[in-house]
Amino acid sequence: MLKTRIAVLVSGGGTNLQALIDAQHGGVLQSGEICLVISTRADAYALKRAEKASIPTLVVERRGSDDFESRILAALEQYGIELIVLAGFMSILSKDFVSKYPERILNVHPSLIPSFCGEGMYGLRVHEAALAYGVKVTGATVHFVNEIPDGGRIVYQKGVEIMDGDTPELLQRRVMEQAEWKLLPAATELVSSGIMKGKKE
Ligand code: GAR
Repeated sequence: MLKTRIAVLVSGGGTNLQALIDAQHGGVLQSGEICLVISTRADAYALKRAEKASIPTLVVERRGSDDFESRILAALEQYGIELIVLAGFMSILSKDFVSKYPERILNVHPSLIPSFCGEGMYGLRVHEAALAYGVKVTGATVHFVNEIPDGGRIVYQKGVEIMDGDTPELLQRRVMEQAEWKLLPAATELVSSGIMKGKKE
């Protein structure tokens, strides 16, 4: 049985990448294998996590590059990637790019979509917006990526309570611990197993 070949795209600390690596080691992610990590930043700590887990890495910086997406596509092709997981990837992929991978790109977003999402809503900004609005519950969403930023079909969603005295940083950590680090590996396994079964038929 051939496992689904996964690439994880990152831009920062990579705690969601770490959750995927741990899920692979712990057996939660068993239908897929992380074959490549691509970072948009050379200084992303996520790269260290990948190297420690002996996963090949590639840096493709967006700034000043007119072949950003074609370099990513070439690497995906080279590694025979079947599923792309955006794990703290701070760049919006073009319509052209996403149309090449229909329902084959997953993203984790740190809110309950359709709240606090879309262009310009990423990282700590999402939690700042949730606190500024005064919602009492937020959470995380794993969804497929289509041509609308944060607009693709939802795979999993989990609510997380907001506490008195929360700061964006405290809230970010709670959303990661209670939702993101569980939902992303579970969704990756779900989609990987579907792809794997499709290959057997
Ligand atoms: C995570 O909270 C992720 O949901 C968010 O950035 C953080 C990355 O952390 N992604 C977005 O906001 C995308 N719109 P990590 O690098 O430690 O996984």
